Amino acid sequence: MNQDFDDRVVVVTGAAVGIGKATAAAFGNAGGTVYLVDIDADAGSASARAVENATFIHCDLTEEDEVAAAVEAIDQSSGRIDVLVNNAGGFPEALGLEDTSIEEWHRILDANLTSVFLMTRASLPLLRRSEGGRIVNLGSLAGQTAGWQTAPPYVAAKAGVHGLTRALATELAGEGITVNALAPSAVLTERIARLRDESELAATAASIPLGRYQSPEEVAEWVLFLSSSAAGFMTGQTVSVNGGRFMA
Ligand SMILES: NC(=O)c1ccc[n+]([C@@H]2O[C@H](COP(=O)([O-])OP(=O)(O)OC[C@H]3O[C@@H](n4cnc5c(N)ncnc54)[C@H](O)[C@@H]3O)[C@@H](O)[C@H]2O)c1
Repeated sequence: MNQDFDDRVVVVTGAAVGIGKATAAAFGNAGGTVYLVDIDADAGSASARAVENATFIHCDLTEEDEVAAAVEAIDQSSGRIDVLVNNAGGFPEALGLEDTSIEEWHRILDANLTSVFLMTRASLPLLRRSEGGRIVNLGSLAGQTAGWQTAPPYVAAKAGVHGLTRALATELAGEGITVNALAPSAVLTERIARLRDESELAATAASIPLGRYQSPEEVAEWVLFLSSSAAGFMTGQTVSVNGGRFMA
């Protein structure tokens, strides 16, 4: 597997904590020039300081103007993007349908789906300057099967991410840009540890045939693979990395 990202310009959204932070660190270790884009300035700056050759950019990815400014800053300093990882998202609470306000509905859809649209559209001119641009979107098992311990707008948003991945892959294939998604199931990030009590955490681990949570670092390895030249003939796919919890 080619995981050499020397001289590659990599943008990871939602990189302040969790999977995004681990992914930014993995690209940094593989030689990439890494931009960490996040709404959380304190955690994002701290995470960027821990990665070699990394810059933090503060941005609310649901705001068109802020996304444009973030991409402009990357253009000014690097002039292109080789890899865009649309990772920002998640959900703060597993609310059921009747407890979901319209504000919450929009918040979750915007953070998980609209952010992918806005960031990808703004980044496209810079991705076109790359020799073989790569886009990797963080989808979810939730978008494939719904399941439990999740929330309706999150399920809808992640199903949307998988569909948008196929639409963008189709549109951009002629330009040599690949677009793929990852669908993890249960990754033990700080957010998940906060959301669930011990018995829920244990029940989730027991529901996974491989018997455990995935680590953020394991997800990062898949992002690097999909961003590598080894994955150059793969596009429009949603890759299930879920410990056997869902087998299509
Ligand atoms: N943890 C899991 O079990 C799991 C499973 C499947 C998919 N995923 C997906 O993987 C991705 C990362 O998950 P995580 O658990 O590391 O999440 P997390 O909550 O730990 O991190 C998400 C990051 O996104 C940032 N973010 C959120 N909204 C933003 C916005 N509007 N603008 C800029 N930044 C924003 C947050 O500040 C945070 O740093 C998410 O898309 C999530 O849905 C996670």
